[in-house]
Amino acid sequence: MTIRQLSLTDFRNLRSTTLDFDPAINLIYGDNGSGKSSLLESIYILCQACSFSTHQLKYCINHAKQGFLLFGRFSDYRVGLSRSAQKQEIKIDGELVKRRSELASKTPIGIANSNSFNLVMGPPQQRRAYIDWCLFHVEHQYVDHWTQFRHALKQRNQLLKERKDLNLLEYWDDYLIKPSLAMQQYRRQYISLINNLLGEEMNDLLGDLNVSLEYQAGWPAGMDLQQCLQTNRDKDIKSGFTNFGIHRDNIRILAKGLAAAQVLSRGQVKRLCLALLITALKLVRDQGERPIILLLDDLCSELDKNTQNKMFVQLLGLGIQLFVTNIERVVPSAFQAKEFKMFHVEHGIIKTSKNG
Ligand SMILES: Nc1ncnc2c1ncn2[C@@H]1O[C@H](COP(=O)(O)OP(=O)(O)OP(=O)(O)O)[C@@H](O)[C@H]1O
Ligand SMILES: [Mg+2]
Repeated sequence: MTIRQLSLTDFRNLRSTTLDFDPAINLIYGDNGSGKSSLLESIYILCQACSFSTHQLKYCINHAKQGFLLFGRFSDYRVGLSRSAQKQEIKIDGELVKRRSELASKTPIGIANSNSFNLVMGPPQQRRAYIDWCLFHVEHQYVDHWTQFRHALKQRNQLLKERKDLNLLEYWDDYLIKPSLAMQQYRRQYISLINNLLGEEMNDLLGDLNVSLEYQAGWPAGMDLQQCLQTNRDKDIKSGFTNFGIHRDNIRILAKGLAAAQVLSRGQVKRLCLALLITALKLVRDQGERPIILLLDDLCSELDKNTQNKMFVQLLGLGIQLFVTNIERVVPSAFQAKEFKMFHVEHGIIKTSKNG
């Protein structure tokens, strides 16, 4: 689904307005602090009912107002989302939605900003989120496994923290193991798919780096999960949380057989992160049924012209809807012969400006 129109009221610093988007390329430019990231954030919230920059949507309410309202017209449904200090309401086609996931599963949306370059160097959590993003959007059962796992882990950790009803630990172990093993199988399978795509289609960005991903379980090799939870029960009780499990999985990233974080230059790491991002988008596009929206926030300032061009050519080939912010009013060369819309943001006021 692409987003065709957005109306926003009292959202961050942005002046209330209605915008019509291009189904393929939207370029947004403006000075620092003008409201570019806020505009991307409003689109993200309409797809996910959560933000990429704050855990609490109430912080998006304009400081001088009591609540914000977003309304999006997608290619075949409409979403309204209102948030006040106390209350949040989501409607799809006028019908009230109870669970956030009902909205989140409709349109896959990705955000790439300077944080995305931590995918290789950063903590394992970021790499788990990367693989999970693909799985959430393609394998519908994965959400159920994930929800069951999170519930079991929360209950288990609560027992460990309070150190009471410890006899219930075995019950929660059983409840935890089934979804963990299902998730592990999915993660392994997708890492293998990603490795194939990296090898076949990312040569222009990766050259001869010979990159591959390797799954590392969040418990010791050669031990099954049940055995591991039992063996480490005293350790868990002492620390007050579950030390081993799927929540401790890692994905090692190798270049030429060595840890990529140790051997690549900063620029090569950025290229690798982009190749991983594009590969995930390809995978979701090929395996899922729905078009994807991708937000690129201020990436151009981080990348040389050659890398930017390779990235945009790859992204255009995917046929996804792009929103690209930049400080300057520049049209990347890959877009020059294409149709696009351009938006200028100045002190929170967004104006549609002419092509070219
Ligand atoms: N809830 C809010 N109410 C009003 N203004 C806000 C709110 N939250 C953030 N702002 C302000 O909105 C402005 C726009 O922020 P935003 O991050 O969107 O700018 P930007 O154009 O992306 O800037 P940069 O180029 O530096 O990334 C900032 O001045 C910020 O302080
Ligand atoms: Mg910004």
